Amino acid sequence: MSDTEKLRNRFEIEKWKTKFHSEHKLREYAEELLETRSAELCELNETLARRVEEEVEKNREKELILFQQSKMASMGEMIGNIAHQWRQPLSAISSIASSHIVQNEVGMLSLEASRESLTDIMKHTEFLSNTIDDFRNFFRNDKEYTVFLIEESVATCLHILAGIISTNCITVVRDIQHIQLFSLKNEFVQVILNLVKNAVDALVDVFDDDEKFIFIKAYVENEEAHVEITDTAGGIPKSIMNRIFEPYFTTKHKSQGTGIGLFMSSEIIGKHMKGTIIADNVDTEVGGQILRGASFKISIPLEY
Ligand SMILES: Nc1ncnc2c1ncn2[C@@H]1O[C@H](COP(=O)(O)OP(=O)(O)O)[C@@H](O)[C@H]1O
Ligand SMILES: [Mg+2]
Repeated sequence: MSDTEKLRNRFEIEKWKTKFHSEHKLREYAEELLETRSAELCELNETLARRVEEEVEKNREKELILFQQSKMASMGEMIGNIAHQWRQPLSAISSIASSHIVQNEVGMLSLEASRESLTDIMKHTEFLSNTIDDFRNFFRNDKEYTVFLIEESVATCLHILAGIISTNCITVVRDIQHIQLFSLKNEFVQVILNLVKNAVDALVDVFDDDEKFIFIKAYVENEEAHVEITDTAGGIPKSIMNRIFEPYFTTKHKSQGTGIGLFMSSEIIGKHMKGTIIADNVDTEVGGQILRGASFKISIPLEY
């Protein structure tokens, strides 16, 4: 081997040594990097899991607050309704009693008249006490699944809103099939109540009494119970249609609307009853004229 060759070999060997050394170093470096990265990833995973847990907990709390607020709001509404329903019988009782006193003072109170007055007062107090029972049943906090009839829930709701419906000269037309549900009775009443109350709120602004209608229809189709609540108050503006089910969305004055009613209704129907609730605007023909209004449709599966 010549000197030049020897030198070249040496050079080659040195080159391979350096290459090997740097590759080794590179691998070491890569392994180190991998280790740090996987440690970081592990930590990130843990933080992420914790964050998700925290967010879920926060959401749960928010939902609870909303539920309580909705209960308070409907309680406030209820108290308003009780006050409304009580005003008339209370003033009747008061005027019967005062004329009883006057008749007695002038010596004109017959036994017969006295009995009549007292019977009247008893009838009125019976009505007051029935109203209280209605409300108490409604506010019972039982999340129990029971069998009930849709027509009963609608009747309860209309009884609760009877005062406000009649003072606003609203005609309610019912077309309800005999349908049994196995579900949460009070919550279902709450949903119907929210929808009918919204219809009433909208109809208050309709000028002509001949144009104030609420149609409540219930029927079975494709193994689902459907309940439609339609009014003739002009309908929901297109610009807000996709927002009405959001919590706190309201177009009403602060003292009037909370914006929780429809949100709560969709939670109850969707999450607790496995059903759906949708809104639309429809035309209804009443006595030859076409009246436009909002229409809400609840669908609940029947199999249980
Ligand atoms: N029947 C209806 N006709 C017209 N608009 C309606 C009707 N029902 C609901 N809305 C609209 O949807 C909004 C949200 O309703 P809701 O969640 O019950 O809250 P709130 O009644 O407190 O405003 C109402 O403010 C109103 O703008
Ligand atoms: Mg409402």
